[in-house]
Amino acid sequence: MSYGLLKGKRGIISGALDSNSIAWKVAQRAKEEGAIITLTNAPLAMRMGEINKLAEECEAKIIPADATSVEDLEKLYEGSMDALGGKIDFVLHSIGMSTNIRKNRPYGDLNYEWFMKSLDVSALSFHKMLQVADKMDAIADNGSVVALSYIAAQRSFPDYTDMAQAKAMLESIARSYGYHYGKKNGTRVNTVSQSPTKTTAGTGISGFNAFYEYANEMSALGNATADECADYVITLFSDLTKKVTMQNLFHDGGFSAVGISEEIVARMG
Ligand code: NAI
Repeated sequence: MSYGLLKGKRGIISGALDSNSIAWKVAQRAKEEGAIITLTNAPLAMRMGEINKLAEECEAKIIPADATSVEDLEKLYEGSMDALGGKIDFVLHSIGMSTNIRKNRPYGDLNYEWFMKSLDVSALSFHKMLQVADKMDAIADNGSVVALSYIAAQRSFPDYTDMAQAKAMLESIARSYGYHYGKKNGTRVNTVSQSPTKTTAGTGISGFNAFYEYANEMSALGNATADECADYVITLFSDLTKKVTMQNLFHDGGFSAVGISEEIVARMG
């Protein structure tokens, strides 16, 4: 159902890899709500070609950009403002990658080059996206920027290894840049801390099924799906949330506030 929440708005959506990606759903919902958008992903991720289907469906231009490259990001904003005909109203950062996780390195045996890469790709890229936009004055007044996070930023999840630090940094960047950009032109910056979700990045974490099921049973409303996450993100891009900024917003069916659930009691009893 469409409410026209993003009518006339211009947006950039990163991170749509395939139809499971959270960004994929956000792009579809943004289009449904009346926005015009560009899509971006790392040049390497484009090789699969899946994104072309989404671009066609959303009538969106694809602008490849490695989110760790300032130069690529400059081209992304330039190309997006050109294609969409003006400054950008909303940006989605939906980017995460850890080679330590991919290669199953335990927390006590992390490769530090890969650790730095995790931080660069999954967290610093958010600062770069904001700083590049800031310098180019590419985000319109009262714009909205959202990045996706996970509760491992606050709690220990052993298999999440270096991504826990990356998410903590990501959330911190939202606070710091949220202040700065808010003062500049009313742009708000938030992170949405999403339930475990069955995507390429999600299922790449060892033990994913266990913490997916555990979170589901520990949440008053059960896990939030990628579609539901997209709905929430759309509200943050809309004019209905103009004074929400510098927050880490849990979108997790209540998981972050539950001590123990009846389901877990029944299992343990
Ligand atoms: P996904 O695998 O579909 O998306 C991750 C995206 O990051 C991919 O499109 C990938 O190409 C992109 N990417 C990786 N390196 C890049 C680079 N250097 N430059 C530009 N893009 C790059 O998985 P998902 O789950 O949709 O991930 C999106 C975000 O949601 C990530 O930040 C992830 O950490 C976060 N998240 C995911 C959860 C889950 O359980 N799936 C839970 C909470 C947060």
